[in-house]
Amino acid sequence: MCGIVGYIGTKRAYPILIKGLKRLEYRGYDSAGVAMISDSGELNVYKAKGKVDNLTEYCSDKDVSGCVGIAHTRWATHGEPSARNAHPHYSRSHNLAIIHNGIIENYADIKTKLQDKGVEFKSDTDTEVLVQLVEYVMVKKNLSLLEAVQVALHQVIGAYAIAIVDKRDPRQIIAARKQSPLVVGIGQDEFFLGSDASPIIDYTDKVVYLEDGNIAVIRLGEEMRVMSILGEEQELQVKTVDIDLGQIEKGGYEHFMLKEIFEQPECLMNCMRGRINVEGTHVTLSAMIDYRQQLLGAKRIVIVACGTSWHAGLIGKQLIESLCRIPCEVEYASEFRYRNPVVTKDDVVIAISQSGETADTLAAIQLAKQQGAFIFGICNAIGSSIPRATDTGTYIHVGPEIGVASTKAFTGQVTVLSMLALCLAKERQTVDDALYQQMVVELTRIPEKMQQALKTNEQIERLAPIFTYARNCLYLGRGYNYPVALEGALKLKEISYIHAEGYPAAEMKHGPIALIDSEMPVFVIATRDRLYEKVISNIQEVRARGGRVTAIVTEGDTQIQKFADHIITLPDTLECFQPLIASIPLQLLAYHIAVCKGKDVDRPRNLAKSVTVE
Ligand code: F6R
Repeated sequence: MCGIVGYIGTKRAYPILIKGLKRLEYRGYDSAGVAMISDSGELNVYKAKGKVDNLTEYCSDKDVSGCVGIAHTRWATHGEPSARNAHPHYSRSHNLAIIHNGIIENYADIKTKLQDKGVEFKSDTDTEVLVQLVEYVMVKKNLSLLEAVQVALHQVIGAYAIAIVDKRDPRQIIAARKQSPLVVGIGQDEFFLGSDASPIIDYTDKVVYLEDGNIAVIRLGEEMRVMSILGEEQELQVKTVDIDLGQIEKGGYEHFMLKEIFEQPECLMNCMRGRINVEGTHVTLSAMIDYRQQLLGAKRIVIVACGTSWHAGLIGKQLIESLCRIPCEVEYASEFRYRNPVVTKDDVVIAISQSGETADTLAAIQLAKQQGAFIFGICNAIGSSIPRATDTGTYIHVGPEIGVASTKAFTGQVTVLSMLALCLAKERQTVDDALYQQMVVELTRIPEKMQQALKTNEQIERLAPIFTYARNCLYLGRGYNYPVALEGALKLKEISYIHAEGYPAAEMKHGPIALIDSEMPVFVIATRDRLYEKVISNIQEVRARGGRVTAIVTEGDTQIQKFADHIITLPDTLECFQPLIASIPLQLLAYHIAVCKGKDVDRPRNLAKSVTVE
């Protein structure tokens, strides 16, 4: 999703802005642009469709002087991806330029009103409407830029993170946010802006996370000010960020996605560190200590999430229901927020999100909060909007996930859900001690078993070319492995653009079986568990129709090789933790198929890492 960068200080802004845009590339975008107030006082805006490299090429013979500027990567919402629609946008006089993340929902109304007053528009975007509105009220009411921004934001319905510069006042940037993240970095005689801290951490670790509905007045030589749209001064809350730059570089891997797949054993150790004691006998979550009463009082748990995080939620449901005996529902946040759901103060709502910025998940949280539910967040991005909107929660601590297709966040989420279910079950006494002990010990062994599972990489790399011809693939699993099938199919779709469907294996005969022929690869997760024999029957149903089966099995399996074309063998674990192991070969499979097809694995088309619009 769109990315914002800004700089004001004593250094050249352009290289800082471009480096910042590259840091934000992982969010997904289709065009990029910069605006700088040059040494001669001009406000220069340069934009290009496609990658940031296209922008730098375009700028190669342009005036990129100046020590103040704003820059943007755009992911189209209103208007096609093009240089014309890319940000920054000028105001009519070319005195102002704006960058914006989010969506102005009433932009059409405002646009018509401005057009009636003679304002002409150069783009199809909602963003240009905002900058034209700011300029219109500035001129009409003789207001300062800050006052005009306050008035304009009052009229706007929607979500935004914005930054505006005015060439007549080159010592100032005004920024604001509502439901879209914005971070200000504070350096020595300089300030930085970012959609997250990644474009900032090269220069300073002192940041201010702007709160919803607040405006930042960033003026060179003065302390930054934060105020509400109404102009009430807010206390400046400066935080220290702790992101290791090495964490967001590729570390020798060809793609971030592959690096992140291979990082998973270490990530899960980080996720469990301090939560499972060194003896491996006990799980403690600080949220469980601080909010014991609220969590134990849950009569029902509702999980809200999107995409991969929703798949993790489906595994969480099974863990929570079987261990804690609390009814648990899993909802797409985008559906939940609009369907007038029944939520009560006896509900605990668990919001799962890697980015912590997903607009639908945030809206679902607000709705559940209004109806009195207690909200628990499971997020990765520290300091992002969802952890700040929840009552409590647990970070998954898997480090920045740069590849657009989520991998390590998924296993991190499942690990936190496992720990949460164990904590709750222990407190509620719905799990007997022996099983509890066995599960905690087994959870601590998962990183080592993941290492073993990662050894399938070479085999999968060899297999991958066979599947590049496929136009459709089917993924089958049951029980805990059904969400793994969904997740495997999603990974393939996202990065290889092959259509894939995940299905509960037994449901196949109620429809999808009609699709099966020798052209359709079928991936079956057939690890040894309660439903193993039944999954074998499902494999036979596929084989009987000429289907080509690749089975993910447990080591020592001797039966399935009789029916499958290819076997991928994994270490054994408890049924409930199988998703943590079984998702690895499916992540690798999607990765290698996409690489074979020459696709841009880390930045698949049309996708954004952080979906900050609904
Ligand atoms: C899939 C993927 C998406 C996200 C979804 C939710 O690989 O990355 O489906 O899982 O957009 O994002 P978060 O977890 O950031 O709320």
